[in-house]
Amino acid sequence: MSYDNILTNTEGGITTITINRPNKLNALNKDTIQELHDAFSDANKDKSTKVIIITGSGEKAFVAGADISEFADFDVKQGGKLAAKGQELLFDFVENLSTPVIAAVNGFALGGGLELAMACHFRIASSNAKMGLPEVSLGVIPGYGGTQRLPQLVGKGRAMEMVMTAGMIDANQALNYGLVNHVTSEDELIPFTEKIASRIMRNSTVAIKAAIKSINANFKDGVDGYKTEIKQFGKCFGTEDFNEGTTAFLEKRKAEFPGK
Ligand code: COA
Repeated sequence: MSYDNILTNTEGGITTITINRPNKLNALNKDTIQELHDAFSDANKDKSTKVIIITGSGEKAFVAGADISEFADFDVKQGGKLAAKGQELLFDFVENLSTPVIAAVNGFALGGGLELAMACHFRIASSNAKMGLPEVSLGVIPGYGGTQRLPQLVGKGRAMEMVMTAGMIDANQALNYGLVNHVTSEDELIPFTEKIASRIMRNSTVAIKAAIKSINANFKDGVDGYKTEIKQFGKCFGTEDFNEGTTAFLEKRKAEFPGK
């Protein structure tokens, strides 16, 4: 499929999605959110894609936020709809994808940009990255899950401070906060992220899918994460991957997972 606002490339088991509006610092407008939904959905269905990496084009930004020009004149109803639609199409969708998604944060990740990075399964940043939720400086609050996912990742007090001050933290502080897992040089960001992706690819895709579901269950209202884990654990025993993984171990050879 061809897109106007994003680029996609699949190679060696990795689909890389690049948000491509560098003149607008990759700000998320309505069309970009729809295109991202379609690209994530396609990559998740594609059997040759084992890991998805999302990044931004240009040297300055991952994503500098939701596109302010699109919602500046919205009323209460339109505002609520904007958040609900965005969460459904992109942010919740990415978090619940069964294919691992890594955010390679290559510059500014602000507002909706940081919210997108936080919806990914984990994050790696280049040393020039700057992260923040500046919405209160615009008279609004984070609406794409930021008030929920930021405290999950950095703790309530740090989230409160980041949101209230509308300030930015640099890559090292984000690492210190646990908001990103690794910091690399700008040149190393994609190669390093691909290296981690290759380590993930050696493992069972069906077991990884069960693990994502179980870990996410810990953060869902009204869902018992322990029960989810028991159910997903049990289901693994009925898979060809489990048979191959345990047999290969006992035969002292490398597992060749069929992904079933
Ligand atoms: N929405 C729409 N356009 C945006 C944008 C956003 N969130 N962030 C940046 N842009 C646009 C700018 O309007 C500018 O467009 P123009 O050249 O047509 O005027 C272009 O991207 C470059 O941005 P600019 O502000 O000139 O770059 P800078 O290096 O001076 O500043 C930032 C970089 C990130 C500090 C600044 O762009 C910024 O504060 N952006 C908004 C961040 C924000 O509040 N995000 C949360 C939104 S809810």
